[in-house]
Amino acid sequence: MALVTSTEMFKKAYEGGYAIGAFNVNNMEIVQGITEAAKEVNAPLILQVSAGARKYANHTYLMKLVEAAIIETNLPICLHLDHGDTFELCKSCIDGGFTSVMIDGSHHSFEDNIALTKQVVEYAHARGVVVEAELGRLAGIEDAVNVSDADAAFTKPDEVEEFVTKTGVDSLAIAIGTSHGAYKFKPGQKPQLRFDILAEVEKRLPKFPIVLHGASSVIPEFVEMINNNGGKMPDAIGIPEEMLRKAASMAVCKINIDSDLRLAMTGSIRKYFAENPSHFDPRQYLKPAREAIKGLVKNKIVNVLGSDGKA
Ligand code: G3H
Ligand code: 13P
Ligand code: ZN
Repeated sequence: MALVTSTEMFKKAYEGGYAIGAFNVNNMEIVQGITEAAKEVNAPLILQVSAGARKYANHTYLMKLVEAAIIETNLPICLHLDHGDTFELCKSCIDGGFTSVMIDGSHHSFEDNIALTKQVVEYAHARGVVVEAELGRLAGIEDAVNVSDADAAFTKPDEVEEFVTKTGVDSLAIAIGTSHGAYKFKPGQKPQLRFDILAEVEKRLPKFPIVLHGASSVIPEFVEMINNNGGKMPDAIGIPEEMLRKAASMAVCKINIDSDLRLAMTGSIRKYFAENPSHFDPRQYLKPAREAIKGLVKNKIVNVLGSDGKA
């Protein structure tokens, strides 16, 4: 099995009312934890690499780790650039073997976002690679994207048809109230998503795959594991799982998860050192961290995304 694009995955997910998990990868243990979980429940996967991950781990190492995961699991895996912000970055990932790229022009004007996305789509499609774009802006902080609450903006449904027609893009990320990171709602605030916007987008773009970024649930078990072992994240709060299930049953075909992986890994390592303060062999603390990721991903696939048995 070679790397695949997300085209077939999205088609089946749309028809089946489930979503494909798109998990961010940064090192070997993360790749192994995610792909071992998917193998056990026979789920298709999108593994995504941010500009920051590529800087941290190096393009070739990440490519080879993902190729190794395909050999080990024989699963359909799509390798995707997460939040590409320039044509050059997308081109470099396309030339370097990725099967999918995101061009995130959401911080540009509508017209400039169209022009940039179209340029990436033309280059990608000529090489058999698919493209995700974004309309609307999510709040939150990542390495490459830093959007304040004030600058965040919901997607305007009356713009989506023109955007998709003019760019030829394959999937569209929209902003309906999710945000990146571990602090998605203010303390005491009731989590809410704009499902009315999603329904309106779905009406205007029939059978078109929609992407949900910022979709970690910020699982309390892992936040507690951090807080109980010397960490300090008391106000962390994520997207309730029932909202993700609802999104997956609608037009959302790709659900992006990174923060939950980080929390699982960090919670597990903090707990390990609290219990074993004198240990120093990295294999001893990375093994439970990899297991924590595996358990998390398996639970997401089976109980939230519904992509188990669909590989
Ligand atoms: O939404 C993006 C991911 O969480 C990647 O974050 O840019 O810090 O690698 P990063
Ligand atoms: P989270 O921070 O909610 O995991 O979102 C990840 C994401 O959207 C990656 O693009
Ligand atoms: Zn994102």
